[in-house]
Amino acid sequence: MEKIKMTTPLVEMDGDEMTRILWKMIKDELILPFVDLKTEYFDLGLVKRDETRDQITVDAAEATKRLGVAVKCATITPNAARMTEYNLHEMWKSPNGTIRSRLDGTVFRTPITIPSIHPVVKNWEKPITIARHAYGDVYKSVEIRVPGEGKAKLVYEGADGKQEEVLIHDFKGAGVLQGMHNTDKSIRSFAHSCFKFAIDTKQDLWFSTKDTISKKYDGRFRQIFEEVFEEYKAKFEELGITYFYTLIDDAVARVIRSKGGYIWACKNYDGDVMSDMVSTAFGSLAMMTSVLVSPDGKYEYEAAHGTVTRHYYKYLKGEETSTNPMATIFAWSGAFRKRGEMDNLPELVRYADALEAACFETLNEGICTKDLAGLMEGITPQPVNSAGFIAAIRERLEKRLA
Ligand SMILES: NC(=O)c1ccc[n+]([C@@H]2O[C@H](COP(=O)([O-])OP(=O)(O)OC[C@H]3O[C@@H](n4cnc5c(N)ncnc54)[C@H](O)[C@@H]3O)[C@@H](O)[C@H]2O)c1
Repeated sequence: MEKIKMTTPLVEMDGDEMTRILWKMIKDELILPFVDLKTEYFDLGLVKRDETRDQITVDAAEATKRLGVAVKCATITPNAARMTEYNLHEMWKSPNGTIRSRLDGTVFRTPITIPSIHPVVKNWEKPITIARHAYGDVYKSVEIRVPGEGKAKLVYEGADGKQEEVLIHDFKGAGVLQGMHNTDKSIRSFAHSCFKFAIDTKQDLWFSTKDTISKKYDGRFRQIFEEVFEEYKAKFEELGITYFYTLIDDAVARVIRSKGGYIWACKNYDGDVMSDMVSTAFGSLAMMTSVLVSPDGKYEYEAAHGTVTRHYYKYLKGEETSTNPMATIFAWSGAFRKRGEMDNLPELVRYADALEAACFETLNEGICTKDLAGLMEGITPQPVNSAGFIAAIRERLEKRLA
């Protein structure tokens, strides 16, 4: 079989631990035999990040801005224990944080669903994608533990020296105080990424805040989304998709009663909380994909899970592991599909579709990794190790591409 051609390279970001092992297996078994793979390779494994003083992460983010589509393996975010384990020069920042801030992007998380794994919420028929605004609010707040009686004020001093001051609370005793912010620029970028992703995936977009209570703060989010929507309205109408704004409490109630199949854009805290609820209710972290979309249409695909450290230590001891490669495979297929669409390469899009279909076929026959065996209903699961699972997918992929 002649290999499928690519024109523009993908930005390939390698990673750490068990997912690094899976990365190579996926390339060797499911990609290289079929695709004439072109990538700009960046090793974001912790050893290389430390060696390059994290310059490699910056270079990978810049390459994504230049080339438009990236695929990333899970990476270690160092903590004190990792400092010792890897003898690091510094506690390097999370690569995802660095890439996200350089691309000014929004993260969209979508579960991979299969008929034999039923969501906890019975009426959910299609995946729900959560878009979390990843800047500001409580995550960049400052706080004071108020010791006792006194006045707390919110003060803004403009560059021209003009001041605006409001009383927050006249404390009669001890308490707590918090100051947080967001910027029009960041909210606007978030809105652009959300409308673009809705158009891309042809799904309705929901957005929720609490603007009845927070008239200026949350009100500004609502207003900016409405302004930005004007730029996308015609395209939404053409595709028959809708933009729907509602209060966060109403959104939560509607999500639970819905059939799924839309994007739910959330403020930072809501997105943090709701993405964990939605992913757990859909079944497994190992079946959750994640894509970072910048406001100017650059894409970085990855699995939502981490490096699966526990399995890696087993692997190092020579033990077999049954780590689920689904989300990492879907990161690759998502990136190939996007590259194919951008470069007008229908064969590459067809390959991405065939790869995903082969994965579904494998799981629908009950062949799965151990983490899914306990979740499947209505079929008899046949748990295999990672290599066995990938081999089963390859067999089906070969047939589809023959
Ligand atoms: N996007 C990223 O790069 C990313 C995200 C989260 C964590 N991390 C890093 O990953 C490392 C491990 O973190 P963690 O243990 O909190 O998260 P993790 O996602 O690796 O594991 C959490 C739990 O889910 C299970 N799990 C996750 N993915 C699985 C898969 N594909 N197959 C089977 N089981 C799976 C694990 O066994 C574990 O019990 C840390 O160093 C952390 O910094 C990276």
